[in-house]
Amino acid sequence: MTGQYVAAIDQGTTSSRCIVFDAAGQIVSVSQREHRQIYPRPGWVEHDAEEIWAAVEQVVQEALAKASIGADRLAAIGITNQRETTVVWDRATGRPVHHAIVWQDTRTGPLLRRLESEYGEERFRDRTGLPLATYFAGPKLRWLLENVDGLRERAERGEVLFGTVDSWLIWKLTGRHVTDVTNASRTLLMNLRTLDWDPELLDALGVPAAMLPEIRSSAEVYGTASGTLDGVPVASALGDQQAALFGQTCFQPGEAKCTYGTGSFLLLNTGERPVSSRHGLLTTVGYRIGDRPATYALEGAIAVTGSLVQWLRDNLGLISSAPEVEELARTVEDNGGCYVVPAFSGLFAPHWRSDARGVIAGLTGYVTKGHLARAVLEATAWQTREVVDAMNAEETVTLRRLRVDGGMVANGLLMQFLADVLDVPVVRPQISETTCLGAAYAAGLAVGFWPDLETLRAQWRQDAQWQPAMDPAHRDRELRNWRKAVDRTLGWVD
Ligand code: G3P
Repeated sequence: MTGQYVAAIDQGTTSSRCIVFDAAGQIVSVSQREHRQIYPRPGWVEHDAEEIWAAVEQVVQEALAKASIGADRLAAIGITNQRETTVVWDRATGRPVHHAIVWQDTRTGPLLRRLESEYGEERFRDRTGLPLATYFAGPKLRWLLENVDGLRERAERGEVLFGTVDSWLIWKLTGRHVTDVTNASRTLLMNLRTLDWDPELLDALGVPAAMLPEIRSSAEVYGTASGTLDGVPVASALGDQQAALFGQTCFQPGEAKCTYGTGSFLLLNTGERPVSSRHGLLTTVGYRIGDRPATYALEGAIAVTGSLVQWLRDNLGLISSAPEVEELARTVEDNGGCYVVPAFSGLFAPHWRSDARGVIAGLTGYVTKGHLARAVLEATAWQTREVVDAMNAEETVTLRRLRVDGGMVANGLLMQFLADVLDVPVVRPQISETTCLGAAYAAGLAVGFWPDLETLRAQWRQDAQWQPAMDPAHRDRELRNWRKAVDRTLGWVD
């Protein structure tokens, strides 16, 4: 073993970061860079995959420089990424053929309605664990095949390649065209039981097999990097939410975490069998270590939480930095009767309504920007409550406490409100960068830097805990108001 550190690249929706970890799982250095959000039309969201790659290269260089180490000191590097975002690139030139279509993008709505009437949603849900929603990668790929000139013919000849962002980065780093099971499980193309592309689903979506990456486990050496990371084994890939589940060491069935980033995603480990949901949750792969059996998860995906705070900052200009939302919200005692439902990309779990669009409900002349800031934070907690109610309704488990992580968990006001509306303790670990940590852990396991899951679990430490303190009658009243506001978002788009 030459390296004493493991690094992880987290390519997220709004930024890319690289973190170097030591053997105790402690952070040695961090580097982060934002990239552009491209909004060509209402409801459309794109990224420039070349810009993302340039940002990734830069954060890797910076993280190594800040840690004062060269690539030779890394035992491995792991990758974690925004999921579902769809990239197609030219095999020969390496150039993307179009901007990446981001998971939040809703352009595939009409296509999904067509698929539903032709094949029925059940066929997809049964095999993939997913509803037919604009969120997932397969329909985005189909949109590109239909709308980029000559792309289908080139795809059939194997001249262009498809990948989610993990594939794009692994290909740039190593020249290998692979993806991992967690990312593949978000395409509507992978069969959850065989963990392979499903020929019937490829057919239904009109996707040529020649352009698909090979599906591998989440923790194994895919190849060796060149460039800045010359010689470093690229040894893990996990979708960011699955990486956070791993970084929170939720290795036992019944353990759950929620990550508060651009959106928020609650994942519950369900063990070695996929559990299908009757209450609007997704069935997904949690992780797979080498050739061991896959671990599955139930997921409650919420599209807009942190990005609502960014919207308050960038589109309304009510705050100048995201953390200021807490200060502004603390200028008032309560929400002043105002509720914000951020259905910017329709509503995800547990509703799955592509026809929903956002509302601000309950406005009166009394409402100030402080109330609005409060309602923005509360929206994150109420959306989590809806997902937790769905989890509890599945009868697989009753959530007794929630491990949280991600950028928003620094917000104490939100964490207390979250414990209040969920009515369970909310627990924050010392390392809230669990997404990167999970990818680093998986990469480290793959190369023997860490021996086993027990060692990783022993490294988890609590930082803070919030206890529920809200009067139940007040909570019930607020929940009723929230639900009324949610009802008003439905059916906005034809
Ligand atoms: O499914 C989308 C999710 O992976 C995005 O995560 O943290 O980039 O908002 P994040």
